[in-house]
Amino acid sequence: MNRSYLFVPADSERKMKKAGDAGADAIILDLEDSVAAGARVAARERVGGYLAGRDDIWVRINPVGTDDAVADLNSIMPFAPTGIVLPKPCGVADVQRLAAMLDELEREHGLDAGRTEILPICTERPEALFGLGGYADATPRLAAMSWGAEDLSAAVGASANRGDDGNWLPPYELARSLCLFAAGAAEVPAVDTVYTDFRDMDGLARYAANARRDGFCGMLAIHPAQVDVINRAFMPSAAEIERAERIVALFAENPEAGALGMDGEMLDRPHHVQAQRILQLAKRLAAVQEKGCE
Ligand code: COA
Ligand code: MG
Repeated sequence: MNRSYLFVPADSERKMKKAGDAGADAIILDLEDSVAAGARVAARERVGGYLAGRDDIWVRINPVGTDDAVADLNSIMPFAPTGIVLPKPCGVADVQRLAAMLDELEREHGLDAGRTEILPICTERPEALFGLGGYADATPRLAAMSWGAEDLSAAVGASANRGDDGNWLPPYELARSLCLFAAGAAEVPAVDTVYTDFRDMDGLARYAANARRDGFCGMLAIHPAQVDVINRAFMPSAAEIERAERIVALFAENPEAGALGMDGEMLDRPHHVQAQRILQLAKRLAAVQEKGCE
């Protein structure tokens, strides 16, 4: 489970060199919107060179159905990326199409079948919002789900997707919530979208804290300075862990009980599940951190 995914435009050798020092749990090398069409061929080659021998590197390819997507995959798959970030899927069918392409390329390059994961940015097209319930059975490659507002707002001709206070306007709050529940239904982590005001660290900290409160497990980052703020926001606090340990212990001591009282509060099954989830998260994140320190 990753708290932070740092986007790095693959047309920038300089940024790619810096990306590894930011402390992100995962890096996404971008071959799509942050790379100009004329720079794409060189960017693909650079991505291959970067991938060799590295872990937790994802690549955002171009949308399924484009020639660029085919060229992206052909050039990166020999170097075994951790996963593919898929922009603008129309729905589950696009994710399955990508999975079928990966089946073939893994075979061709002698990679373990099914090793390449998929993270769709699942709300970038209006029509995609109506099929989000279908991701649960889409493909075992589905590793997480994220969402985006920029392409979605452009697609409907909106003049803004955030209000004057910086908060998402209702149509984009809806898309965000649908992504969260679609990921919940598919039992994969939901990853909140980018916070584009990359100099506003206080705003980012507030946004990320709210994302974690709502159930997101991590966030996309666009700038190295955002990574640490995000990583900290998605760690359960010591107080949360302590409380979760007490809840799990209480249910373990009372295996026949449905509802129990603790600190004057009623606890039942959803609280137990949530406490177990926090402990699991703490364990996984501790493992991620340990790996990052090696
Ligand atoms: N990954 C790695 N390094 C990055 C980086 C990133 N995403 N963003 C900035 N840096 C580097 C810069 O190269 C710079 O290093 P340098 O001083 O050695 O040149 C340093 O971090 C500070 O950058 P800064 O000057 O604060 O920002 P900038 O004006 O150079 O770049 C952006 C601003 C937004 C263009 C840049 O952060 C970026 O490209 N972000 C990713 C965009 C993206 O991938 N979008 C697609 C997903 S929405
Ligand atoms: Mg985009």
